Amino acid sequence: MNSGLKVFAPASVANMAVGYDILGFAIDGPGDEIIVRPGKSPGLVIKQITGTKKKLPLEVEKNTAGFAALKLMKHLGEETMPIEMEIHKKMPFGSGLGSSAASAVAGVFAVNEFLKSSLGKRDLVKFAVQGEQIADGAWHADNVAPSLLGGIILIRDNESLDLVKLPAPDGLFACVVYPHISVLTKDSRAMLSDKVDLKQHIAQSGNLAYLVAALYRLDFDMIRRSLTDLIIEPQRATLIPHFYDMKDIALSNNALGFSISGAGPSVFALCENSLIAETVGEKIKALLQSKSIENDVFISKINTTGAFKF
Ligand code: HSE
Repeated sequence: MNSGLKVFAPASVANMAVGYDILGFAIDGPGDEIIVRPGKSPGLVIKQITGTKKKLPLEVEKNTAGFAALKLMKHLGEETMPIEMEIHKKMPFGSGLGSSAASAVAGVFAVNEFLKSSLGKRDLVKFAVQGEQIADGAWHADNVAPSLLGGIILIRDNESLDLVKLPAPDGLFACVVYPHISVLTKDSRAMLSDKVDLKQHIAQSGNLAYLVAALYRLDFDMIRRSLTDLIIEPQRATLIPHFYDMKDIALSNNALGFSISGAGPSVFALCENSLIAETVGEKIKALLQSKSIENDVFISKINTTGAFKF
Protein backbone atom coordinates (compact mmCIF):
# COMPACT_ATOMS: atom_id res chain seq x y z
CA MET A 1 0.00 0.00 0.00
CA ASN A 2 1.41 3.40 -1.04
CA SER A 3 1.06 5.55 2.07
CA GLY A 4 2.53 8.76 0.66
CA LEU A 5 5.83 10.56 0.82
CA LYS A 6 7.51 13.92 1.41
CA VAL A 7 10.09 15.66 -0.80
CA PHE A 8 12.08 18.90 -0.72
CA ALA A 9 13.32 21.07 -3.59
CA PRO A 10 15.88 23.80 -2.84
CA ALA A 11 15.96 27.48 -3.77
CA SER A 12 18.38 28.51 -6.50
CA VAL A 13 20.34 31.47 -7.83
CA ALA A 14 19.78 31.92 -11.56
CA ASN A 15 22.06 33.71 -14.04
CA MET A 16 25.15 33.54 -11.76
CA ALA A 17 26.07 37.04 -13.00
CA VAL A 18 27.28 36.18 -16.49
CA GLY A 19 24.82 33.54 -17.71
CA TYR A 20 21.42 35.14 -18.17
CA ASP A 21 18.87 32.30 -18.51
CA ILE A 22 21.63 29.68 -18.96
CA LEU A 23 23.44 29.35 -15.60
CA GLY A 24 22.19 28.69 -12.09
CA PHE A 25 23.08 26.98 -8.83
CA ALA A 26 21.13 25.47 -5.95
CA ILE A 27 21.55 26.56 -2.33
CA ASP A 28 20.94 24.92 1.06
CA GLY A 29 18.24 26.09 3.44
CA PRO A 30 15.24 27.68 1.77
CA GLY A 31 13.01 25.64 -0.55
CA ASP A 32 9.66 23.92 -0.91
CA GLU A 33 8.40 20.80 0.80
CA ILE A 34 5.66 18.76 -0.84
CA ILE A 35 3.73 15.81 0.57
CA VAL A 36 1.72 13.50 -1.68
CA ARG A 37 -0.71 10.84 -0.48
CA PRO A 38 -3.24 8.51 -2.06
CA GLY A 39 -6.35 10.55 -2.91
CA LYS A 40 -10.04 9.76 -2.56
CA SER A 41 -11.16 10.70 -6.06
CA PRO A 42 -9.57 10.29 -9.50
CA GLY A 43 -6.80 12.72 -10.45
CA LEU A 44 -4.54 15.19 -8.64
CA VAL A 45 -5.96 17.48 -5.94
CA ILE A 46 -4.06 20.19 -4.04
CA LYS A 47 -5.38 20.02 -0.46
CA GLN A 48 -3.46 22.88 1.13
CA ILE A 49 -0.66 25.41 0.69
CA THR A 50 1.13 26.77 3.76
CA GLY A 51 4.04 29.14 4.38
CA THR A 52 3.09 32.09 2.19
CA LYS A 53 0.95 35.17 2.71
CA LYS A 54 0.38 35.42 -1.03
CA LYS A 55 -2.67 33.45 -2.07
CA LEU A 56 -1.37 30.77 -4.42
CA PRO A 57 -3.94 28.89 -6.52
CA LEU A 58 -5.23 25.52 -5.31
CA GLU A 59 -6.44 24.74 -8.85
CA VAL A 60 -4.03 22.16 -10.21
CA GLU A 61 -3.87 23.72 -13.70
CA LYS A 62 -2.96 27.16 -12.29
CA ASN A 63 -0.45 26.03 -9.69
CA THR A 64 3.20 25.58 -10.72
CA ALA A 65 3.60 22.39 -8.65
CA GLY A 66 0.23 21.03 -9.73
CA PHE A 67 0.68 21.82 -13.40
CA ALA A 68 4.14 20.25 -13.57
CA ALA A 69 2.90 17.11 -11.79
CA LEU A 70 -0.16 16.92 -14.03
CA LYS A 71 2.00 17.11 -17.16
CA LEU A 72 4.03 14.19 -15.83
CA MET A 73 0.90 12.18 -14.94
CA LYS A 74 -0.45 12.70 -18.46
CA HIS A 75 2.89 11.68 -19.95
CA LEU A 76 2.79 8.47 -17.90
CA GLY A 77 -0.89 7.82 -18.71
CA GLU A 78 -1.70 8.16 -14.98
CA GLU A 79 -3.82 11.31 -14.96
CA THR A 80 -6.69 9.54 -13.17
CA MET A 81 -4.52 8.19 -10.35
CA PRO A 82 -6.02 9.61 -7.11
CA ILE A 83 -3.32 11.78 -5.51
CA GLU A 84 -3.57 14.48 -2.82
CA MET A 85 -0.83 17.09 -2.59
CA GLU A 86 0.18 19.49 0.21
CA ILE A 87 2.59 22.33 -0.57
CA HIS A 88 4.62 23.79 2.30
CA LYS A 89 6.59 26.81 1.17
CA LYS A 90 9.73 27.18 3.23
CA MET A 91 11.14 30.08 1.26
CA PRO A 92 10.08 33.61 0.33
CA PHE A 93 7.86 34.04 -2.70
CA GLY A 94 8.76 36.57 -5.44
CA SER A 95 12.27 36.88 -4.06
CA GLY A 96 14.45 35.98 -7.05
CA LEU A 97 15.38 32.70 -5.38
CA GLY A 98 13.41 30.44 -7.70
CA SER A 99 10.32 29.95 -5.56
CA SER A 100 8.06 28.96 -8.47
CA ALA A 101 10.78 26.66 -9.77
CA ALA A 102 11.18 24.95 -6.37
CA SER A 103 7.40 24.34 -6.30
CA ALA A 104 7.37 22.93 -9.82
CA VAL A 105 10.37 20.72 -9.08
CA ALA A 106 9.00 19.43 -5.77
CA GLY A 107 5.60 18.77 -7.37
CA VAL A 108 6.90 16.75 -10.28
CA PHE A 109 9.56 14.96 -8.23
CA ALA A 110 7.06 13.95 -5.53
CA VAL A 111 4.53 12.58 -8.00
CA ASN A 112 7.23 10.75 -9.97
CA GLU A 113 8.35 9.04 -6.74
CA PHE A 114 4.76 8.34 -5.74
CA LEU A 115 4.04 6.66 -9.07
CA LYS A 116 7.32 4.73 -8.82
CA SER A 117 7.96 5.69 -12.43
CA SER A 118 11.16 4.67 -14.14
CA LEU A 119 11.91 8.29 -15.15
CA GLY A 120 15.03 9.81 -13.62
CA LYS A 121 15.56 13.39 -12.47
CA ARG A 122 17.04 14.39 -15.82
CA ASP A 123 13.79 13.31 -17.54
CA LEU A 124 11.73 15.48 -15.19
CA VAL A 125 13.33 18.83 -16.11
CA LYS A 126 10.91 19.49 -18.98
CA PHE A 127 7.81 18.93 -16.83
CA ALA A 128 9.15 21.24 -14.13
CA VAL A 129 9.93 23.95 -16.72
CA GLN A 130 6.34 23.70 -17.97
CA GLY A 131 5.17 24.23 -14.39
CA GLU A 132 7.40 27.25 -13.83
CA GLN A 133 6.38 28.71 -17.16
CA ILE A 134 2.85 29.36 -15.93
CA ALA A 135 4.33 31.67 -13.27
CA ASP A 136 6.42 34.00 -15.44
CA GLY A 137 5.35 33.07 -18.98
CA ALA A 138 8.90 32.33 -20.10
CA TRP A 139 10.71 29.08 -20.93
CA HIS A 140 14.04 28.84 -19.13
CA ALA A 141 15.51 26.15 -16.89
CA ASP A 142 18.12 28.14 -14.96
CA ASN A 143 16.21 27.79 -11.64
CA VAL A 144 14.42 24.50 -12.29
CA ALA A 145 17.46 22.49 -13.39
CA PRO A 146 19.70 23.32 -10.39
CA SER A 147 16.78 22.87 -7.96
CA LEU A 148 16.07 19.43 -9.39
CA LEU A 149 19.59 18.18 -10.12
CA GLY A 150 21.65 20.20 -7.63
CA GLY A 151 24.98 21.87 -8.33
CA ILE A 152 25.88 24.54 -10.86
CA ILE A 153 24.01 23.93 -14.11
CA LEU A 154 24.95 25.31 -17.53
CA ILE A 155 22.26 25.20 -20.20
CA ARG A 156 23.52 25.19 -23.78
CA ASP A 157 20.01 25.43 -25.20
CA ASN A 158 16.81 26.07 -23.24
CA GLU A 159 14.57 24.86 -26.07
CA SER A 160 15.94 21.31 -26.09
CA LEU A 161 17.07 21.51 -22.43
CA ASP A 162 20.57 20.45 -23.40
CA LEU A 163 22.33 21.05 -20.11
CA VAL A 164 25.32 19.95 -18.05
CA LYS A 165 26.35 20.03 -14.38
CA LEU A 166 29.58 21.97 -13.79
CA PRO A 167 32.04 21.22 -10.98
CA ALA A 168 31.59 23.28 -7.81
CA PRO A 169 34.78 24.02 -5.85
CA ASP A 170 34.51 22.63 -2.34
CA GLY A 171 35.13 25.88 -0.48
CA LEU A 172 32.77 27.96 -2.60
CA PHE A 173 30.10 29.68 -0.47
CA ALA A 174 27.23 31.91 -1.45
CA CYS A 175 25.94 34.76 0.68
CA VAL A 176 22.40 35.42 -0.55
CA VAL A 177 20.47 38.45 0.68
CA TYR A 178 16.75 38.89 0.17
CA PRO A 179 15.64 42.50 0.75
CA HIS A 180 11.91 42.48 1.42
CA ILE A 181 10.81 44.49 -1.57
CA SER A 182 8.63 43.37 -4.42
CA VAL A 183 10.03 42.71 -7.92
CA LEU A 184 7.93 40.72 -10.36
CA THR A 185 9.94 38.43 -12.65
CA LYS A 186 7.64 39.33 -15.55
CA ASP A 187 8.44 43.06 -15.10
CA SER A 188 12.12 42.41 -14.49
CA ARG A 189 12.28 40.51 -17.80
CA ALA A 190 10.14 42.95 -19.73
CA MET A 191 12.43 45.88 -18.84
CA LEU A 192 15.46 44.33 -20.56
CA SER A 193 16.58 45.62 -23.93
CA ASP A 194 16.56 42.95 -26.64
CA LYS A 195 19.69 44.45 -28.23
CA VAL A 196 23.24 43.72 -27.08
CA ASP A 197 26.18 45.85 -28.04
CA LEU A 198 28.86 43.81 -29.85
CA LYS A 199 31.68 44.90 -27.52
CA GLN A 200 29.59 43.95 -24.48
CA HIS A 201 28.76 40.61 -26.08
CA ILE A 202 32.46 39.89 -26.59
CA ALA A 203 33.34 40.84 -23.01
CA GLN A 204 30.41 38.88 -21.55
CA SER A 205 31.22 35.78 -23.63
CA GLY A 206 34.80 35.97 -22.39
CA ASN A 207 33.63 36.17 -18.79
CA LEU A 208 31.16 33.30 -19.18
CA ALA A 209 33.63 31.00 -20.92
CA TYR A 210 36.34 31.89 -18.39
CA LEU A 211 33.98 31.16 -15.48
CA VAL A 212 33.32 27.69 -16.86
CA ALA A 213 37.09 27.11 -17.20
CA ALA A 214 37.57 28.47 -13.65
CA LEU A 215 35.05 25.99 -12.24
CA TYR A 216 36.76 23.07 -13.98
CA ARG A 217 40.11 24.26 -12.64
CA LEU A 218 38.62 24.96 -9.17
CA ASP A 219 40.47 28.29 -9.35
CA PHE A 220 39.07 31.09 -7.16
CA ASP A 221 41.16 33.85 -8.76
CA MET A 222 39.83 32.94 -12.18
CA ILE A 223 36.28 32.95 -10.76
CA ARG A 224 36.94 36.43 -9.33
CA ARG A 225 38.06 37.76 -12.72
CA SER A 226 35.04 36.36 -14.55
CA LEU A 227 32.05 37.31 -12.37
CA THR A 228 31.18 40.63 -14.01
CA ASP A 229 27.81 41.01 -15.72
CA LEU A 230 28.01 43.82 -18.27
CA ILE A 231 24.60 43.28 -19.84
CA ILE A 232 21.76 42.44 -17.44
CA GLU A 233 22.91 43.79 -14.05
CA PRO A 234 23.27 47.44 -15.18
CA GLN A 235 19.69 47.36 -16.47
CA ARG A 236 18.13 45.71 -13.42
CA ALA A 237 20.19 47.30 -10.64
CA THR A 238 17.75 50.22 -10.53
CA LEU A 239 15.05 47.84 -9.21
CA ILE A 240 17.07 47.09 -6.08
CA PRO A 241 17.63 49.88 -3.55
CA HIS A 242 21.31 50.33 -2.52
CA PHE A 243 22.44 47.69 -5.01
CA TYR A 244 25.81 49.33 -5.64
CA ASP A 245 26.38 49.99 -1.91
CA MET A 246 25.82 46.29 -1.26
CA LYS A 247 28.17 45.40 -4.11
CA ASP A 248 30.86 47.70 -2.68
CA ILE A 249 30.52 46.00 0.71
CA ALA A 250 30.82 42.53 -0.84
CA LEU A 251 33.83 43.30 -3.04
CA SER A 252 35.69 45.33 -0.40
CA ASN A 253 35.27 42.38 1.99
CA ASN A 254 36.92 40.02 -0.46
CA ALA A 255 33.91 38.39 -2.14
CA LEU A 256 34.78 36.84 -5.52
CA GLY A 257 31.84 38.59 -7.15
CA PHE A 258 28.41 40.04 -6.48
CA SER A 259 25.30 40.32 -8.60
CA ILE A 260 21.53 39.94 -8.77
CA SER A 261 19.97 36.55 -8.01
CA GLY A 262 17.70 35.70 -10.94
CA ALA A 263 15.26 38.51 -11.63
CA GLY A 264 15.84 40.05 -8.16
CA PRO A 265 15.31 41.53 -5.65
CA SER A 266 17.69 39.04 -3.98
CA VAL A 267 21.39 39.53 -4.52
CA PHE A 268 24.28 37.15 -3.98
CA ALA A 269 28.00 37.18 -3.34
CA LEU A 270 30.21 34.21 -4.13
CA CYS A 271 33.01 33.74 -1.61
CA GLU A 272 36.00 31.46 -1.23
CA ASN A 273 35.14 30.49 2.35
CA SER A 274 32.31 30.69 4.86
CA LEU A 275 33.92 33.42 6.98
CA ILE A 276 33.99 35.84 4.04
CA ALA A 277 30.38 34.93 3.19
CA GLU A 278 29.26 35.52 6.79
CA THR A 279 31.11 38.83 7.04
CA VAL A 280 29.59 40.05 3.77
CA GLY A 281 26.15 38.92 4.98
CA GLU A 282 26.44 40.70 8.34
CA LYS A 283 27.62 43.96 6.75
CA ILE A 284 24.95 44.00 4.06
CA LYS A 285 22.31 43.20 6.68
CA ALA A 286 23.52 46.14 8.78
CA LEU A 287 23.34 48.45 5.75
CA LEU A 288 19.79 47.38 4.88
CA GLN A 289 18.68 47.65 8.50
CA SER A 290 20.07 51.18 8.67
CA LYS A 291 17.83 51.98 5.68
CA SER A 292 14.82 50.26 7.35
CA ILE A 293 14.70 47.51 4.71
CA GLU A 294 13.83 44.15 6.24
CA ASN A 295 15.92 41.33 4.85
CA ASP A 296 16.96 37.69 5.15
CA VAL A 297 20.52 36.46 4.73
CA PHE A 298 21.29 32.89 3.69
CA ILE A 299 24.83 31.50 3.82
CA SER A 300 25.24 28.32 1.86
CA LYS A 301 27.62 26.06 0.02
CA ILE A 302 26.56 25.10 -3.47
CA ASN A 303 23.86 22.48 -2.89
CA THR A 304 24.95 19.52 -4.99
CA THR A 305 21.99 17.25 -4.14
CA GLY A 306 18.99 19.11 -5.53
CA ALA A 307 15.53 17.67 -4.87
CA PHE A 308 15.37 14.74 -2.47
CA LYS A 309 12.86 12.44 -0.81
CA PHE A 310 12.83 12.37 3.01
N1 HSE B 1 16.95 33.92 -15.80
C1 HSE B 1 15.73 34.41 -15.24
C2 HSE B 1 15.76 35.92 -15.23
C3 HSE B 1 15.58 33.87 -13.84
O1 HSE B 1 16.80 36.48 -14.88
O2 HSE B 1 14.76 36.55 -15.57
C4 HSE B 1 14.34 34.34 -13.15
O3 HSE B 1 13.27 33.50 -13.33
